[in-house]
Amino acid sequence: MTNPMFSLAGRTAFVTGAARGLGVGIARGLGQAGANLVLSDVDLAGVQAVAEGLRAEGLPARALALDVRDEAAFQSAFDAAVAAEGAVDILVNNAALTPHVSLWDITTPEWDDVMAVNLRGVFFGSRIAARHMRERRRGRILNISSLAGQQASAVTGAHYAASKAGLFALTRAFAQELAPHGVTVNAISPAAIEGPSLDEIDAEARRRFLATLPVGRFGLETEVAAAAVYLASAAAGFVTGTTLDLNGGKLMR
Ligand SMILES: NC(=O)c1ccc[n+]([C@@H]2O[C@H](COP(=O)([O-])OP(=O)(O)OC[C@H]3O[C@@H](n4cnc5c(N)ncnc54)[C@H](O)[C@@H]3O)[C@@H](O)[C@H]2O)c1
Repeated sequence: MTNPMFSLAGRTAFVTGAARGLGVGIARGLGQAGANLVLSDVDLAGVQAVAEGLRAEGLPARALALDVRDEAAFQSAFDAAVAAEGAVDILVNNAALTPHVSLWDITTPEWDDVMAVNLRGVFFGSRIAARHMRERRRGRILNISSLAGQQASAVTGAHYAASKAGLFALTRAFAQELAPHGVTVNAISPAAIEGPSLDEIDAEARRRFLATLPVGRFGLETEVAAAAVYLASAAAGFVTGTTLDLNGGKLMR
């Protein structure tokens, strides 16, 4: 029998950037643990197709358009989720831009865009969710960061690394503020997870990357999803302001 502490039955999860990749895997994992799913993405057609696929798997999922750069749009999408589901218990800040670009080639607009999606979007989304969760004295915020924010990365850009490093600080700031209100805030820090982002890296860079992973394989979306289920569940009620690393042993601390 599954440990009931890991059950998300009766909970609603709002996931950003859920049209492809890890967002889909995390949503599926939360849904399999019992959560109702509200999936959002700037790519509406993509996220609608994902929601339809998850419903076909028997998971309750609805889709919303959301560009996380827009605070007012985030508030509207969040309010729509609350109106439809009664409440939001879990926010997963997953949406991100992951540019593979040399620091010599980063332009001002590209720097600003990466920060607006990867860092500012998480700040505004977390604050919107926090107001709702603080009032209910219950909630979970999960920020999907990256190993690139903890140590230098040969594959992703400096702006991406800086945005992901900033998420650890945001995680602690929100965790500190919300701890007395029954809301926990944690980061998940993956690296090298199988999926569309990894597929975009050329074969030689992939091979070199794989050689640096002590476990000798890439990670799986289901493994990131399981980490999200844990942090979203009652089992992690005493865990806040921390980072769960999923990097195959590349960073040990
Ligand atoms: N895949 C990995 O190996 C890996 C490793 C470390 C960290 N991560 C992190 O995991 C998360 C998901 O990564 P992924 O590989 O699935 O990425 P991905 O690029 O495959 O998917 C990102 C999703 O975010 C959406 N998105 C982009 N801009 C948006 C915006 N302005 N508003 C709303 N949605 C937007 C995209 O449409 C897409 O559906 C990201 O935060 C990423 O930094 C992934």
